[in-house]
Amino acid sequence: MTAPLPPFPAGFLWGVSASAFQIEGSVTADGRGPSSWDAFTKRRGAVKDGSHADVATDHYRRYREDVALMAGLGVGAYRFSVSWSRVLPEGAGRVNRKGLDFYDRLVDELCAAGIAPAPTLFHWDTPLALEERGGWLSRDTAERFASYASVVAERLADRVPMWITINEPAEVTLLGYGLGEHAPGERLVFDALPVAHHQLLAHGLAVQALRAAGAREIGIAASHSPVWAAGDGEEDRAAAELYDTLTNRLFADPLLTGAYPDENLAALLPGPVAEDLKTISAPLDWYGINYYNPMLVGAPRPEAAAGPSGFGGIEIPSDLPFAIRPIEGYEHTDFGWPVVPDGLRELLLTMRERYGDRLPPVYITENGCSYGDAPDPADGRIADARRIAYHDGHLRALHRAMAEGVDVRGYFIWSILDNFEWAEGYRQRFGLVHVDYDTLARTPKDSYAWYRDVVESNR
Ligand code: NOJ
Repeated sequence: MTAPLPPFPAGFLWGVSASAFQIEGSVTADGRGPSSWDAFTKRRGAVKDGSHADVATDHYRRYREDVALMAGLGVGAYRFSVSWSRVLPEGAGRVNRKGLDFYDRLVDELCAAGIAPAPTLFHWDTPLALEERGGWLSRDTAERFASYASVVAERLADRVPMWITINEPAEVTLLGYGLGEHAPGERLVFDALPVAHHQLLAHGLAVQALRAAGAREIGIAASHSPVWAAGDGEEDRAAAELYDTLTNRLFADPLLTGAYPDENLAALLPGPVAEDLKTISAPLDWYGINYYNPMLVGAPRPEAAAGPSGFGGIEIPSDLPFAIRPIEGYEHTDFGWPVVPDGLRELLLTMRERYGDRLPPVYITENGCSYGDAPDPADGRIADARRIAYHDGHLRALHRAMAEGVDVRGYFIWSILDNFEWAEGYRQRFGLVHVDYDTLARTPKDSYAWYRDVVESNR
């Protein structure tokens, strides 16, 4: 690291993130019902290292230790997710008091440590009973989600200062229902579009439910990437624009402008779309952005090499009207994702240019990197210098975007702990804290001490 980081504004919120399915384990404890991801991980070949998340990091039982690690960092907030099937084992109807009690205890523990709890209501683990009835292909799931949001808010809103409805609806649509790489493993390609609409509707209905229960400071966590055209030709530009529409604008436009980016697209969506758009675009208190890397997209060419994409090795079928190309000239993480800190600045400026005053204050709800650094056999130290460089670079880019006028209020590192990285299993490690999956011992990495200093000095 060269010069010290620039100072951030007073009150800037430093946080860490995680999600229920990726860390909790204890999948049958205290009446939890099964989720789409429990079922998916049991399918042969679905998770690359053959693992499941029955134990994961055992956070359900070790949450006090994990909150103590966060307190040691000094962070102002912890973004976690609530497991829908702990609270409503069948997804609707019967409330499982013991499941709700866990989040009540977690929230109390966080408050006692001076850390603001920032729950996400849906981070990909759909109750299996709902998945079996169509999951996000069904409008009913959006309505059930709003009822679930009420149940959680009625219990926690007195202590929760900040809420997130849904995490990355684009990934659920594309990876879960479009390409089958994530739960529920459907390969519907463009027929997956209703999944986008139903999640957006679920978000809008949940905002109403949360507000009715007294919740404040409501946002969403959406993944966004700058999309770069692989070439100057018309075909590459059109492919990149389509990709941008399907992954960025398909979600942000309805939320922030009340319209889908393309009328032809809107015509493919189910339900009273015009009416729904009013619900979907109800004003948000803030907008959450998960940023990892830009995407280089061009027209499909059978002879072009498929490279490590921002989705880490996920193959995009060759009959789609776009292809993701490897980004050269940058370092890559151990996941194969390009490290492009300035992509964060570019993205934030694009968002402001696109949405103007309709873009509420922004939080970076996720930013992070997978590096496999292991404890040194001699002294146990985990010297993850590349993770420190990654965050240092992204914070400088973020600071520049703020200096150029984008209103950003906070930054959450993904993730506090190494955890279950979906179809990759445990082999991708995003944590500031290392987890030994044999002993479940937690060991802070060098990046943990680095982030503690950033948080403490606010720079
Ligand atoms: C996005 C997701 O929200 C999170 O669950 C995942 O682990 C990280 N990005 C890294 O891929």
